[in-house]
Amino acid sequence: MKILAIESSCDETGVSVVKDGREIISNLVISQVAKHAEYGGVVPELASRCHMECICTLTEQALTKAGESFADKLSGIDAIAVTNTPGLVGSLLVGVNYVKGIALATNKPIVPVNHINGHIAALYLTHRELTPPFICLVASGGHSHIYEVESYTRLRLLGRTLDDAAGEAYDKVARTLGYPYPGGIHIDNAAKSGNESHYKLPVPRIPGYDFSFSGIKTAVINLKHNAVQREETLVAEDVAAVFQRTVTGILADKLILAARETGHKTIAVSGGVSANSGLRKLLSERAKNEGMSLYLPELSLCGDNAAMIAAQGYYEYINGNTVGMELNALA
Ligand code: KG4
Ligand code: ZN
Repeated sequence: MKILAIESSCDETGVSVVKDGREIISNLVISQVAKHAEYGGVVPELASRCHMECICTLTEQALTKAGESFADKLSGIDAIAVTNTPGLVGSLLVGVNYVKGIALATNKPIVPVNHINGHIAALYLTHRELTPPFICLVASGGHSHIYEVESYTRLRLLGRTLDDAAGEAYDKVARTLGYPYPGGIHIDNAAKSGNESHYKLPVPRIPGYDFSFSGIKTAVINLKHNAVQREETLVAEDVAAVFQRTVTGILADKLILAARETGHKTIAVSGGVSANSGLRKLLSERAKNEGMSLYLPELSLCGDNAAMIAAQGYYEYINGNTVGMELNALA
């Protein structure tokens, strides 16, 4: 069974064709990062316009790569999946309305996909043997959630951030340290050569499986202000190193705690922050010590892409989750 999927929830336009939820036939992504970088973050209006400019051509290219075409009404495609929530509403609307158009023209069913479920499905593309149940941390620019993945289509939320998402904290700290947007990768790289004991950052004491990152972010901003007042230079690599150690430590602690207390032996991470080298290394060690199996997406599937939406779309479709022209985008 082949699913065509469109992803346009934030600043990446993605189109993909995936077979049986596990095999990528084509997967194209156009990133708008360079266009937003000069503003230090995503400009929603600009994002919507960029999606509109490229979505038709990108879809034709992804279909050609998969040996499919509009000319024969997508004869080899069973259903069309689209991210309809959560995200920037203007961006989501581009994908949702485009998919309504092609579904109407080709008489194919539409499958709505939640972007967070999509990030989890990136794991199924990387690890064909992985099946629910397992405990998954989804950490990206918009979310830091711990779920019990009960089945392909049923998640139980165990914990979430009370303020900033982990990726958001990375991006804000990166900006404070003078790195370009999106800053996660720059902090990750800088941390490798930094001295993590040069500076100190507070570790929030949040009960259960919830997180809080805004206090750590504020502490970095204060370090910067104090350094400016004293006419000292902040060593960016050293701040990056302590920030990375603190945040990855919290993420790993909560994920392991959730798995231990729910009795699961399989843990996973997905979303943009799952590309973080410190988090991947720390969790590999921790999982080994705990006798748990750890699953991480391949690096190309950590960030936003449509293959993960197609993979989740497959499981939604076989579970009967299709919609008609009433489909809407939810921010
Ligand atoms: O999943 P994603 O591409 O988009 C959202 O759904 O938000 O995640 C983007 C986030 C950004 O905040 C980015 O800085 C962060 O993931 N990120 C990283 C790394 N690579 C991307 N954060 C830490 N370390 C990285 N290596
Ligand atoms: Zn995402």
